[in-house]
Amino acid sequence: MEVSLEGRVALVTGAGPNIGSGIALGLARYGARVACNDVAVDAAAASVRRIERHGGEAMAVVGDVTDEDSVRGYVSEVLEAWGRIDILINNAALLGGRGVLEESVEFWNRAVAVAGTGTFLNTKHVAISMIERGIKGSIVNILSSNAWQGCAGVIAYAFHKGGLANFTRAAAMDLAPYGIRVNSYSPTAPRPDNPELLASLSESGGLRRHFAPPPDRPSWWRDAGKIDVRGNMPMEPSTPTDIGHCVAWLCSDYARLITGCDFVIDGGARAKYWGYTPPEEKAEPLPLIPLYEDETMLGGF
Ligand SMILES: NC(=O)c1ccc[n+]([C@@H]2O[C@H](COP(=O)([O-])OP(=O)(O)OC[C@H]3O[C@@H](n4cnc5c(N)ncnc54)[C@H](O)[C@@H]3O)[C@@H](O)[C@H]2O)c1
Repeated sequence: MEVSLEGRVALVTGAGPNIGSGIALGLARYGARVACNDVAVDAAAASVRRIERHGGEAMAVVGDVTDEDSVRGYVSEVLEAWGRIDILINNAALLGGRGVLEESVEFWNRAVAVAGTGTFLNTKHVAISMIERGIKGSIVNILSSNAWQGCAGVIAYAFHKGGLANFTRAAAMDLAPYGIRVNSYSPTAPRPDNPELLASLSESGGLRRHFAPPPDRPSWWRDAGKIDVRGNMPMEPSTPTDIGHCVAWLCSDYARLITGCDFVIDGGARAKYWGYTPPEEKAEPLPLIPLYEDETMLGGF
């Protein structure tokens, strides 16, 4: 099977160095020109450089996904430069957070706006641009295992990722009459594999997703338990490279009738019976197929 996105234009929101950049690079690897959006200028620029290093075509479109004028602005920038958008990846989100007893309304509102409002606004304006041009495009919303299972300590994340699971199905219905497909992909604790990110994580000591607890917890506070993502995976965790291959295939013509579905590459994590703990000793999976030979490194994170 020869997946080709030649001639296609993609827009990836929140194209930071981890999953967003991995998906952007994956789409470019299969032939798409990629507009890398981020609210952080440096993040968008780094994602573009990573694609260009391998001879791909990319442009940075800086803007806040929650601001409708900003979304209209960068969607127009892409349309002016390349004339079309065939693929939208709604990836921007705020990770981390706190549990329901400790979360602030400020973080809750911002997190819900970035994932929820951001996905809505980008879907709306990009879908209109597809319809106006007769493009039977593909939209992929990036969810999380937190969309499907309840985890302590991330109440806003659980809410907006769960909401996006049904947004995906409903938007798939709204856009099916136009031949536009809407699906989701649920990353499950992937291991970062972008060499630039791994270098900066080595310096900073790794990913820190959970916020520091408040110093003055009340006397009735009870321990919230712990998360062990590695120890609970029947196989190995995936990488942004695995996600890039899958999303590129999902945006290709092979997936022409797939809409309203969710995809995972999670080594069996979601299929697992909740009380089952996999054995520590397991076979190595097949080796990862890199997007480019020098682009996939596995560090200890
Ligand atoms: N990393 C994981 O383990 C994991 C697991 C499951 C799901 N996910 C999901 O995958 C996606 C990417 O995760 P990641 O680990 O690469 O996150 P990340 O934090 O590294 O990247 C997110 C990017 O979004 C950008 N962003 C934030 N607010 C924005 C806004 N208002 N407008 C535009 N850009 C904005 C940030 O600047 C950042 O570069 C997210 O949707 C996340 O929820 C991640």
